[in-house]
Amino acid sequence: MRYLVTGGAGFIGSHVCDALIQRGDSVVVLDDLSTGNKKNIEHLISHASFKLVQGSILDTSAVESAIKSVDHVLHFAAAVGVFTIVDKPLESLMTNIRGTENILEAAHMHGKEVLIASSSEVYGKNAGGALHEESDRIVGSPLKSRWSYSEAKAIDESMAYFFYQEKKLAVRLVRFFNTVGPRQVGHYGMVVPRFVSAALKNEPLTVYGTGSQSRCFCHVYDAVAGVLAVIDSNATLGEVFNIGNDEEITIENLAHEVIELTGSRSIIEKVLYEKAYAPGFEDMQRRVPDISKIKRVVGWTPKLSLDSIISNIATHLKA
Ligand SMILES: NC(=O)c1ccc[n+]([C@@H]2O[C@H](COP(=O)([O-])OP(=O)(O)OC[C@H]3O[C@@H](n4cnc5c(N)ncnc54)[C@H](O)[C@@H]3O)[C@@H](O)[C@H]2O)c1
Repeated sequence: MRYLVTGGAGFIGSHVCDALIQRGDSVVVLDDLSTGNKKNIEHLISHASFKLVQGSILDTSAVESAIKSVDHVLHFAAAVGVFTIVDKPLESLMTNIRGTENILEAAHMHGKEVLIASSSEVYGKNAGGALHEESDRIVGSPLKSRWSYSEAKAIDESMAYFFYQEKKLAVRLVRFFNTVGPRQVGHYGMVVPRFVSAALKNEPLTVYGTGSQSRCFCHVYDAVAGVLAVIDSNATLGEVFNIGNDEEITIENLAHEVIELTGSRSIIEKVLYEKAYAPGFEDMQRRVPDISKIKRVVGWTPKLSLDSIISNIATHLKA
């Protein structure tokens, strides 16, 4: 099968490319290298079944010519990371809404299957237990840049879903919860690589807020296996699936765990959310995925523990 992976030079996208090439598929990547890095796919560049197109999903002709050459589109390109969204809200919205619209239009025009990468951010600050695919969205004001990523991803999902319903486009949706692992970078606001990187340098680990907020972290290798399970099944058409790990940890305990596992002399410092981001910044207290649907439909469950994730990131950062 021939796949177009938008955002394929990014963190999750590049691991998806690895998995596809490894199983004998061919891959075209469309990436503008804004948050992605050529290094993530350097080892694939000389492969006969791999091609990198440096370009934007906002460029409709680049999108169309890339889509024409494949059977299936995996859409990972997006403006990602809390800092990116808060710093450049307008540009992020354009990328995340118009970019996805371009992908869906072109896929429809050329009759290609599409997987859209969405996010647990669509649930907003719904902290009422494990979130299942039908859980309500609870978001703040649309004028707060904090929520614009959630808004954009929700619109992407609706657009994709109604392309499926009204135009019979073969669409699948996945909502990634915090995904971590090698190649992820910390400077866009991702907590695990940020902590591990500070711990390796014996620098303070900065916890935003009280640290009592909890998250669940899924290894990217598990997430990629989830993506492949979803795209390989016909039972997933027109459906949305949570992809995440349901092992929960508070951010303060995560900081302690990182310090212990890396043998670091770092201390933990707490910083007010307002100082770290912007006045009025809102965050959710808990975010836990309910992964019973993906388990039931395609038999996927995550296999890797948080400790192995931290060790893996530390090894990668040291290298
Ligand atoms: N990492 C997570 O925990 C997580 C959680 C939820 C959802 N997601 C979603 O998964 C997808 C991949 O995220 P990631 O963590 O790998 O981030 P990433 O920043 O590493 O990857 C995004 C990629 O998209 C590319 N890109 C950005 N704008 C583009 C444009 N206009 N045209 C072409 N390429 C462009 C970037 O250069 C980058 O390579 C995104 O859609 C993101 O919203 C990720």
